[in-house]
Amino acid sequence: MPNKIKKQPHIVKGFSRFAHTYEQYNMIQAEVAKQLVSSLKEKYYSTVIDVGCGSGAVFKSLRECSIRFDRFIALDLSAEMLALHPSGANIIKECVDFSSDELLGEFVGDKDTLLLSSSALQWSTDLDRTLSALSRCAKRACFAIFTSGTFKTLHQNAGITSPIYSEQEVRAAIGNYYDATFVLHSYQLRFQDTKEMFRYIQKSGVSGGERRLGYSKMKRLMEEYPLDYLEFEVLFVEATAI
Ligand SMILES: C[S@@+](CC[C@H](N)C(=O)[O-])C[C@H]1O[C@@H](n2cnc3c(N)ncnc32)[C@H](O)[C@@H]1O
Repeated sequence: MPNKIKKQPHIVKGFSRFAHTYEQYNMIQAEVAKQLVSSLKEKYYSTVIDVGCGSGAVFKSLRECSIRFDRFIALDLSAEMLALHPSGANIIKECVDFSSDELLGEFVGDKDTLLLSSSALQWSTDLDRTLSALSRCAKRACFAIFTSGTFKTLHQNAGITSPIYSEQEVRAAIGNYYDATFVLHSYQLRFQDTKEMFRYIQKSGVSGGERRLGYSKMKRLMEEYPLDYLEFEVLFVEATAI
């Protein structure tokens, strides 16, 4: 597997470190990928490009929905996550950083190409640049992007701001490159106790700002957390490049 990126940003180290447990802890992402794929209108695409593909939630959902394609291009910055993605004769897996537009330019599809990205673009360090590059790869795209209402109560109680973009920021950035329709979904993930919740945050790869708190502060925060569930907010986008 060619790894073209020498220095991985913080969050991807997180994904790589927990790649082996990601599958057990990605129930929300799996649900989001299912929802994204079930909204697709067609049953065939010449090429599907999956940006931030991880271990293959989108690929698996496409198969479950009997959506066909000639070629599947799976892109992720983490070689460890890509290693978990299904392989096959029509699957191209590449280590690519979506925050850098140079590499994405290699993956330009035809008019029947569909670009998908589920639960990944919230980690772009430059969303505008990423979307500009993505809009040149394929005319049609569908995204599911986590927004700042994710872990809202946890962040409020900790007095920290969300490390990810707000719904308004994502909508504005998308509007620069696409005609798009948006649907905002909220999810709640319930836990038996806060210990389990704490473990989930550590292992799921969704943590971001919480790391800044350190272990002991995070532990205290979880003990005082008023809900028996974690909150997630996801913006679903159906987009046509301008
Ligand atoms: C929460 S996972 C989602 C994976 C998959 N799409 C799913 O629905 O389960 C986010 C993925 O984005 C990848 N990622 C994060 N930053 C990235 C970047 N700058 N370039 C490419 N991939 C990135 C991570 O390695 C991880 O596999």
